[in-house]
Amino acid sequence: MSSIDRAPLELDGEPRFAWRGVMLDVARRFRPMPDLLRFVDLLAAHGLNVLQLHLTDDQGWRFEVRRYPRLTEAGGRRSESQLGHGPSATGDGVPHEGWYTQRELRELVQYAAARGIRIVPEIDVPGHACAVLAAYPEYGVGEVEAVRARVPEPWTRFGISDEVLNVEEETVRFVCDVFDEVCDVFDSEVVGIGGDEAQKRRWHEDPRTQDLLAERGLADEAELQAWFLGRIASHLAERGRRVVGWDEMLEGRRPAPDAVVASWRGSVGAGLAARLGHDVVLCPDLWTYLDYRQSDDPEEPIPVGTVLSLRDAASFDPVPDDAPAALRDRVVGVQANVWTEHLDSRERLDYAVFPRLGAFAEVAWNGGPLDWAEFGSRLPGYLAWLEAQGVDFRPLGGPRPDQQRPGVPGVPRRRADRIAQLARLTADLADPA
Ligand code: ACM
Repeated sequence: MSSIDRAPLELDGEPRFAWRGVMLDVARRFRPMPDLLRFVDLLAAHGLNVLQLHLTDDQGWRFEVRRYPRLTEAGGRRSESQLGHGPSATGDGVPHEGWYTQRELRELVQYAAARGIRIVPEIDVPGHACAVLAAYPEYGVGEVEAVRARVPEPWTRFGISDEVLNVEEETVRFVCDVFDEVCDVFDSEVVGIGGDEAQKRRWHEDPRTQDLLAERGLADEAELQAWFLGRIASHLAERGRRVVGWDEMLEGRRPAPDAVVASWRGSVGAGLAARLGHDVVLCPDLWTYLDYRQSDDPEEPIPVGTVLSLRDAASFDPVPDDAPAALRDRVVGVQANVWTEHLDSRERLDYAVFPRLGAFAEVAWNGGPLDWAEFGSRLPGYLAWLEAQGVDFRPLGGPRPDQQRPGVPGVPRRRADRIAQLARLTADLADPA
């Protein structure tokens, strides 16, 4: 009962993957409800069936929590946003705010379910915490006054912040209370707890955190993070839910046995997760991060990440023939991730997502890379369909003048550099054999 017909894509027979997802970051950029409903329609039209909603991050908290109203009152608004990326980025001077009521989100869950889409909510802990700390500094590391001074509002910059939640029992209780309300609103068996990019510096330098770490018999901050996430997972298990987390969840100690691991930093985390018997969702950034630049053209708007062209998206081979058997068995799905730091309008979101989502959707359905020439022969039909839906997709030849961002800096990355960085980041997870 989708309100849009199926897109003209090859989505025949049984889908290869049970989880054919998209993650949308509504924390960096709040998207009003009508845009979310339209996005759900478009996902359904592409044969996708999971929308992971990234509801919280340093830059904003978008989920109404009745027990902690300041999360949205103070955490749902920032005075401006970074404009561009890298050292010469500036600020846009434009306040940004918004959040979803529980009622709206319940409606979204129903709307999506009627279209075959499950909403997987994500509350990102213990890092990406500035919006929480702007609202409730007592959950930060150090004296409350110091946290208040460091985090006067949700972060107006982009990047990876040092701020993390502290690891007091009260903080675990607070997070569990939040997840209780998440469970009241969302019916998904799988609930996102984040776990990515939590910097360990504050925990390392804070005497109180070090005392707690020692009291709990933990070896280091990686184990402390695993302890924290484990507490949340146990709480959610009591509510009949299991967690999905980014592959940092594998660091320190093993996650809950039924945890789903979203592997975004290459394939090392996926391999380890599979060997440990976890369900795995593959979302390697080089193939599935739809905020990454679509070409080397200097006119690509705010170019970040490596080049991820339409052809690259079509070449994604989730489980190649030579993949280990464990991985073959444990991969339950694939997911495209749409981070929105630089996607500050519906049009810019459309530009990033389409038409790459068409290629991703066929890979997700059919399980392997597309025949580029064959896909190319069908592209005009697909683009005409997007046009008819009013989707402001990226033209194959590059951005139109109104889609460019002249003078706004980005940070393009070279693929080889990113691959080397991923190897360093995941060295602890690599198979010692
Ligand atoms: C992520 O890209 N931080 C999961």
